[in-house]
Amino acid sequence: MSLDIRHQASLQNLNSLSLPARAENFCQVKDTQQLVSAIYYATKNNLQITPLGGGSNMVLAGDIAGLVVHVDIKGVTTAPAAGAFIDVTFAAGENWHQMVEYCLQQGWYGLENLSLIPGNMGAAPIQNIGAYGVELCDVFVSLHAIDIASGDRVKLDHKQCGFGYRDSIFKQAYKDRYLITHVCLRLSTQPTTNISYPALAAALAGITPTPQLVSQAVCEIRRQKLPDPTNLPNVGSFFKNPIVAKSDLARLVINNEAAPSYVQSDGRYKIAAAWLIDQCGFRGQRRGPVGVHANQALVLVNYGGTGAQLMALAAEIQDAVAAKFAIDLDLEPRVYGRG
Ligand code: EPU
Repeated sequence: MSLDIRHQASLQNLNSLSLPARAENFCQVKDTQQLVSAIYYATKNNLQITPLGGGSNMVLAGDIAGLVVHVDIKGVTTAPAAGAFIDVTFAAGENWHQMVEYCLQQGWYGLENLSLIPGNMGAAPIQNIGAYGVELCDVFVSLHAIDIASGDRVKLDHKQCGFGYRDSIFKQAYKDRYLITHVCLRLSTQPTTNISYPALAAALAGITPTPQLVSQAVCEIRRQKLPDPTNLPNVGSFFKNPIVAKSDLARLVINNEAAPSYVQSDGRYKIAAAWLIDQCGFRGQRRGPVGVHANQALVLVNYGGTGAQLMALAAEIQDAVAAKFAIDLDLEPRVYGRG
């Protein structure tokens, strides 16, 4: 099937913040061969490629030059793994939550804590999605990708992906180098559960957890705190939780309430950015058509504004947190089309 390249295409329905940006050139690809054709087209016309999956972790601060490639490759295949495990390979365009539900139905366990995370499979390794005590890297085996410069197909294993907290090599040394086409995860064929996250343990207190119950509880907690992007456009957490030295904890106390913190394997502490923002009085605040969610201060929401308005609010929050706590908040989603 030949490529259908559109010009000045609206991306408003393709980003979960519903920001009104345009792609100078745009195409949707349904298989790896079309993706290779898109790379060839971009190379021939000297266009920079911007990959687009579910659009749930990107801020479109302005229009996007070059070629936006909407990766819409579907499919799931399996291979047996040693012990009571199965290796499941998902195409990049599969919706993350639909795949969590599909795996539960098949009796493949390990993704329940990651229920209801917006976005597509291909984006999951980039920020090493994580929630309620589990990160993608806990079940990740390998991924297939295409090298944008050469068009070569490559396979990268767990170690090569350099996973960290909301981080991977695709946000660092390999930024903009690859287009991910398939992701392979090792799932358990025996029911297992992880209810180490305090809010999840509290929700399931007195109940014998099953993977289905864990998934249900995670969905309920998320629905209470996090707005559904289809009703109130957002990208989940707008900032990463900062990681600080133990010596910095003492000043993170307001009115005798200490910032929620979690010790890391290196002895440093991850601080709840939501608490820092909350203490600066931003929760529920609006700046015209953009604002901070009333139930979760880490979530910025768009009531009908622009990327520039949203970025101005983000900068105001960063300045306030830096002034009050001397902590720099890093953005969690990737910003495109800035200036
Ligand atoms: N808190 C406040 N004010 C608020 C919200 C929360 O003080 O407005 C406090 C809570 O009392 C709690 C702490 O902050 O003690 C942490 O809150 P929460 O459990 O909601 O988690 P989070 O650290 O804000 C992270 C992830 C979420 C993930 C949850 C659950 C990041 C950047 N965010 O949020 O991921 O769902 O933990 O694991 O790590 C995302 O990445 O988009 C995302 C939603």
